[in-house]
Order: sequence, then structure tokens, then C-alpha cells
Amino acid sequence: MRNKSTLNLILTAALTGLIAISLSSCGKKDENSPGVEFMPDMYRSEALKYYYTHTVDGDTLQNAMLPVKGSVARGYMPYLYDNTSEGYEAAGLNLKNPLKAKSRETYEKEGEELYGKFCVHCHGASGGGDGKVAAKLPGPPPAYNGALKNLPEGKIFHTITYGKGSMGSHASQLTQEERWKLVYYVQKLQGPKDTVKVAAAPTTTLTEKKKI
Ligand code: HEC
Repeated sequence: MRNKSTLNLILTAALTGLIAISLSSCGKKDENSPGVEFMPDMYRSEALKYYYTHTVDGDTLQNAMLPVKGSVARGYMPYLYDNTSEGYEAAGLNLKNPLKAKSRETYEKEGEELYGKFCVHCHGASGGGDGKVAAKLPGPPPAYNGALKNLPEGKIFHTITYGKGSMGSHASQLTQEERWKLVYYVQKLQGPKDTVKVAAAPTTTLTEKKKI
């Protein structure tokens, strides 16, 4: 008999405990609250805010981390020539068109299409410097088959990349491949070159890699 009443007492206590827990876990204040939550970190891992810092092994790091110095995006080729007159000359002597996979005619056609979108309004359809916008510039662009007839491919690429005078840089609008396609087309507009003596290529002007 004694045992039975002890058992009853224990059961009643347990039941009261459970009721107390269930009542306290169903908070009335927030109807959407699930109540007692075990291991909340498993549900809600601590999020890092973008522009703050966090600490790992005593090192304070930016949450929005920059790529490791020297990283390059897949398929991206850094452009090695500076935006200086030395860089321009060196590009003219050393830089050659790497596009060889398709025929020259195919590249010229692709270049022509790009030319119609990005260049024709200044340089004109035949590259004579007589595009619609050219008249509004302080000085119209020289003709490809005139003053620019012997301009080497490296300089053409360099100028499309960085711009020159009142021509702006086209590096953000055109990939390197597209710029080289344009080089083929500009060369087509240049017509045959005069035969000129080419100086030896200097090797010292390559400097730090540029992201452009
Ligand atoms: C806003 C008008 C404008 C646009 C757009 C423009 N150019 Fe030019 N471009 C010029 C002017 C002006 C010059 C002459 C710059 C100088 O020598 O001061 C020039 C010069 C050049 C030269 C000669 C560079 C040299 O080394 O002397 C080339 C090649 C050239 N442009 C190609 C292009 C190509 C290709 C495009 C299209 C992707 C293009 N340009 C778009 C205005 C423009």
C-alpha cells in the first residue's frame, strides 16, 4: 500500500512537471514561437554580415573576402602592357594576335559585327574617321587606310583596351577575344601595309600584371 501511494505521488509530480513544462514552453506572447528549442545553433547558424569582420585563430578577416592576390578568373588573360607611351610602343612591337582557331575571314566578319556596334559611329563604315559622332569630337579619328595604315596590331589592341585621346577604353565592353576580332577587321580596313623596317623588340617594358 505504501509503495502504491509513493508511486502515485511520483506520477502526480511527473504529470505536474510535464504540464508546467508544456505551459511554460508555449509562450503566449509569441504565437509563432515553437517553444523550447533544443540546439538552436543547428537551426540557425550564426550568419556573417557582408562588410563586417570575423576572427579565425586570432586573425581578423573581412567577411567579404577578396580573392587571393594574383588570382585570375578562369579563362581570363591578364594584359601585361601599361597604359603609358612605353607600354604602347612595347605592345606595338611584341603583341601579336593570338586568335588562330578560325579563318581570318571568319574573324573579320565577327569583328565587323562588333565594329558596327562599338566603333562605326566615330570611325565611319570604311574607317575613314567620318562617323556621325566624329564631327562632334575635338579632332576626328584618323583614317585607318591613311595615317593609321601601318599601325601594328599590338597598338590597335592597346588602343581598344585603354583608349587614346578622345577615344575611351573599351576594355569593360569587349572581351580580349572580341578586341582581337576587331583588330582583324581594322586591319582589313587598313588595307595592305607599306613595307617598313621593324625595330628589335624591347623586353624590359613588361611590368606588373594589369587587370584590364
Ligand atoms: C568616341 C569615338 C570613338 C569610338 C567609339 C572609337 N574610337 Fe577609335 N579613335 C577615336 C579617336 C578620336 C581616335 C584618335 C585618337 C588619338 O590619336 O588621339 C581613335 C583612334 C583609334 C585607333 C588608332 C590608335 C592609334 O594607336 O593611333 C584605332 C585602331 C581605333 N581608334 C580603333 C577603334 C575601335 C576598334 C573602336 C571600336 C571598338 C573604336 N576605335 C571606337 C574615336 C573613337
